[in-house]
Amino acid sequence: MRAVRFRGAGGPETLLVEEFPDPVPSAGQVLIDVAGAGLNRADSVQRQGRYNLPPDATDIFGMEVSGTVAAVGPGVTEYAVGDPVMALLTSGGYATKVAVDVRHVLAVPRGFELLPAAGVPEVAATLVANICMAGRFRSGETVLIHGATGGIGAVGIQLVKALGGRVAVTASTAAKLAAARELGADILIDYTRDDFAERMAEAGGADLILDTVGGPYLERNLRALALFGRIVTIGLQGGREGELNFALLMKKKASVTGTLLRDRTAEQKAEIMRETARLVIPLLESGAIRLPVDRVFPLSDVASAHRYFDSKSHVGKVLLDCRQ
Ligand SMILES: NC(=O)c1ccc[n+]([C@@H]2O[C@H](COP(=O)([O-])OP(=O)(O)OC[C@H]3O[C@@H](n4cnc5c(N)ncnc54)[C@H](OP(=O)(O)O)[C@@H]3O)[C@@H](O)[C@H]2O)c1
Repeated sequence: MRAVRFRGAGGPETLLVEEFPDPVPSAGQVLIDVAGAGLNRADSVQRQGRYNLPPDATDIFGMEVSGTVAAVGPGVTEYAVGDPVMALLTSGGYATKVAVDVRHVLAVPRGFELLPAAGVPEVAATLVANICMAGRFRSGETVLIHGATGGIGAVGIQLVKALGGRVAVTASTAAKLAAARELGADILIDYTRDDFAERMAEAGGADLILDTVGGPYLERNLRALALFGRIVTIGLQGGREGELNFALLMKKKASVTGTLLRDRTAEQKAEIMRETARLVIPLLESGAIRLPVDRVFPLSDVASAHRYFDSKSHVGKVLLDCRQ
């Protein structure tokens, strides 16, 4: 098979397609002929040599794919050869073939083309794990999402709306905020001009904040919360460390937590995928949520895909076509 592996920290030019032996599915695994692979911010951080990979990861990039089942390992009865599927991976997605735990595989949602489905697993599982599970979202609540038009934000806006919430977002440009409005966001905040904490206080505060910025936002996130609000940090795009005002934490009866999907146990990921199948897949199939795909690059030009992704000009997902 062809695949892209980590060859040492650097820019997009370090990404090269190489030949590897085909993976063989072991018991409980499905072998997928990969059609598409999604790019994620972690791939970029990994390429720069700043990502601590979980011990069970290989050095082949990629955390999500779509494709068709090429073979099944012993004990797998859920899928048959030829089935269109998508999967959450610990690694190995920038490839023409990948073997994955059957519990982390879902059927491609009805109405979806095979390639765009590659952008669903990581986003959908992350949103379920953090908005629904860790964030304990309830219908009628207000959710503030930072990074409105990234892969997570673009689908997160629609998920919260579909589940009956009000959505506030932050982004850096008027064009990104206009895209967020199109996706259903109710409160639009340009974080380069406005203090989002003040804007949220005026709007009654956020019951839940999906935070992708980390340290530098901690104090403002806490000020932006409503009473009994929750902050769930899933990204550290601004930095790792912040100062926590415990007096304000107590006054707001707030909670601050954070989660990581990639290094969870296979069983924990299986539970998240079951919840994803229950909560998100029906919304994708009914059209209540769509997956905005910004651009698709051939696997053979993975360096250009990373260069574009690093420019942060995309709205929604950037994908690789692994058949090219
Ligand atoms: N914990 C987990 O399990 C998990 C799983 C998946 C993703 N994530 C994380 O979630 C985050 C979003 O993922 P994604 O796939 O949506 O990435 P993405 O497509 O790259 O989007 C990131 C967004 O964040 C905004 N942003 C970037 N730097 C910022 C900063 N310093 N301050 C404020 N906003 C900033 C960017 O837009 P602007 O131009 O508007 O700033 C961009 O729209 C990433 O940090 C990723 O690592 C975590």
